[in-house]
Amino acid sequence: MTKVLINGVLGTMGEALVRLISGKDDICLALGIDAAYDGSSSYGFPVYRSPGEVPADADFDVIIDFSHFSAVPALLDFAVLRNKPVVLCTTGLKEDTLKQCDEASKKIGIFRSANMSVGIYVLRKLASEAAKYIGDDFDIEIVERHHNRKLDAPSGTALAIADNLNEAMDGQLEYVYDRHSRLARRDKKELGISSVRGGNIVGDHDVIFAGRNEVIELSHSAQSREVFADGALKAAVFMAGRPAGKYDMEDLFK
Ligand SMILES: NC(=O)c1ccc[n+]([C@@H]2O[C@H](COP(=O)([O-])OP(=O)(O)OC[C@H]3O[C@@H](n4cnc5c(N)ncnc54)[C@H](O)[C@@H]3O)[C@@H](O)[C@H]2O)c1
Repeated sequence: MTKVLINGVLGTMGEALVRLISGKDDICLALGIDAAYDGSSSYGFPVYRSPGEVPADADFDVIIDFSHFSAVPALLDFAVLRNKPVVLCTTGLKEDTLKQCDEASKKIGIFRSANMSVGIYVLRKLASEAAKYIGDDFDIEIVERHHNRKLDAPSGTALAIADNLNEAMDGQLEYVYDRHSRLARRDKKELGISSVRGGNIVGDHDVIFAGRNEVIELSHSAQSREVFADGALKAAVFMAGRPAGKYDMEDLFK
């Protein structure tokens, strides 16, 4: 049984994880961390406000993080100190934090994916494959839609799809986020990335291949946050006891 610590346990994704984990028999919740913990409420598991408050003898195998980009540096320090692997799901990480991830992955296992859904993993594979066939002739655009509380734009997933497309096109694509600021015809090598924010949309990603007389669209719509929570729990079971290094969805599906 894998014992997990959840960072951001009182947030939207934290709550989804807590709900889902109770029905699992290969993983259980050992404790949580959340900056919003008021110190008095009881959740049926220990909660701390910061990594520094977690007792030295706390018993857990792996950390899942769904918090805030500003929370990640302290969490990585904590994970290295306690020698525990991390499933890092928070998006919008700064350049410095990404470097810190690289350094930390020399000492602990770090699984990172901008999107923990299995469907998105397949979408990325299909989009790369399509780009190899028609990328030279078709214009490619990505449109992503998310709820009105999302902080970063474009989504980490849209950027990950863009990187897959670019890799398939031998790095020829130029990412364009701000068409309103340029008054020019679309260049063949542009990859437009557009963001929509509103309501309660869990997360939609469309990859559009627009040709001269035909259009192909690959679409993924996450209908519940449970898809991300489920992927994160699978990754946590996979990561428990793994050696230092960088891991991603590719490793989970090998
Ligand atoms: N990789 C994926 O598949 C995936 C899926 C969904 C969300 N996300 C990302 O996960 C993150 C969280 O998403 P959410 O919808 O749960 O957000 P949320 O705002 O609902 O929850 C975040 C939680 O983190 C807590 N927090 C903030 N700063 C903290 C700190 N310093 N230490 C500890 N806890 C802290 C907040 O109090 C809050 O409870 C975002 O970056 C989001 O983009 C990733």
